[in-house]
Amino acid sequence: MTKPHHNHIPPSDMESVSQKWQRVVGRRSFLHGVGVAGATLAATTLAAQGNKKLPPGDVAILRFLAAAEIIESDLWSQYAELGGANGGNHAYKLALQNLDNDMPQYITDNTDDELSHAAFLNAYLMSKGEQPVSLEMFRTLPSTIATGAQQINRLTNLQQLHVDTSYYTRYRSDLNPDFGAMFPDAVTIKNQPAIPISDADTDPTQAQPVPPTTTQQTRMQAIANSAAFHFAFIEQGGSSLYPTMALKVTDLEVLRIVLSIGGVEIDHFSLWHDKLGNAISQPLAGVVDPETGTKFLDLNNPANQPFGNDLAQTNLILPEPCQFINPNLPLCSVIRPISTEHSGAMAAVNALTADNLFNFNLQPGFFDKLMELAGAADAARRQSGHD
Ligand SMILES: [Fe+2]
Ligand SMILES: [Fe+2]
Repeated sequence: MTKPHHNHIPPSDMESVSQKWQRVVGRRSFLHGVGVAGATLAATTLAAQGNKKLPPGDVAILRFLAAAEIIESDLWSQYAELGGANGGNHAYKLALQNLDNDMPQYITDNTDDELSHAAFLNAYLMSKGEQPVSLEMFRTLPSTIATGAQQINRLTNLQQLHVDTSYYTRYRSDLNPDFGAMFPDAVTIKNQPAIPISDADTDPTQAQPVPPTTTQQTRMQAIANSAAFHFAFIEQGGSSLYPTMALKVTDLEVLRIVLSIGGVEIDHFSLWHDKLGNAISQPLAGVVDPETGTKFLDLNNPANQPFGNDLAQTNLILPEPCQFINPNLPLCSVIRPISTEHSGAMAAVNALTADNLFNFNLQPGFFDKLMELAGAADAARRQSGHD
């Protein structure tokens, strides 16, 4: 009988994978009933059946994507605990619902998607006899003390973000960052919480009228608006990362995985790109965070459009055709960027770091670990002759 490949994984790593499964399964709605034993058994059976080794470059790509999905899962879980369908911070949910009544459900579903991506990628790696990715040792950042959040350690910080909002202008432009184009931010979001930071800062029982009237209501609306911009920032990154990685994949089944998950990242981005427009259009536009000064002006008003009217209109959420492959060819509506330099694995780590999503002082070795995984993924090259 063929020995399952994942028996080669050292016991310490197996333990952390099992813990991860336990946590993932415990938090999920749709995996209820499967259980840890069932999931592990399924992976074991697959390992016994699929004995063809994956090309090393494909393994590196899958491992980096698993790390990225674990990070996504961590941040989305925080949003879901506070503002999801069963979220525990009532005023935060109300402020999010001022952007769209369905926001809590969308947050819960996006979170479930990320958890499924992370769990699938690691299980697939194990089924092919490869090491799964665990970031558990870096889970050391504190939760927010605001009502609704579990008091557990996190991988990501959502309490002081610098959100790059240039995707808003990038997808409204006919220029392409892969040809060197740069884009201005739509809204300047610096040192900004995207989740409530304490009940003293924002009362979880307060009302959230449109527009907000009290200082605390305004603060909470600015936090929810920032979250909406952050949702789209994260998902546009995934929308570019997956096709960038797909171009390096050799094995057709791995390509299927990368294309299929990547398509859902694009779906997420499109949704959030639509919802965030409600923070910067009437009747909600005009919120100014009383503590950070972040301004959510009406971008449908020409007076607030420093980068040109045609780039600003909030309902232009579908990608404008842009330069593609060769500037002499006709403009084409595409995902951009798709290049190792601008949207590869290293670029993704740098973007998340610039977002202030981590605090590497409290997570020694985490940046090195991410860069090691990213470097290997970016170095992967498609091989011909693999069947
Ligand atoms: Fe994902
Ligand atoms: Fe995502």
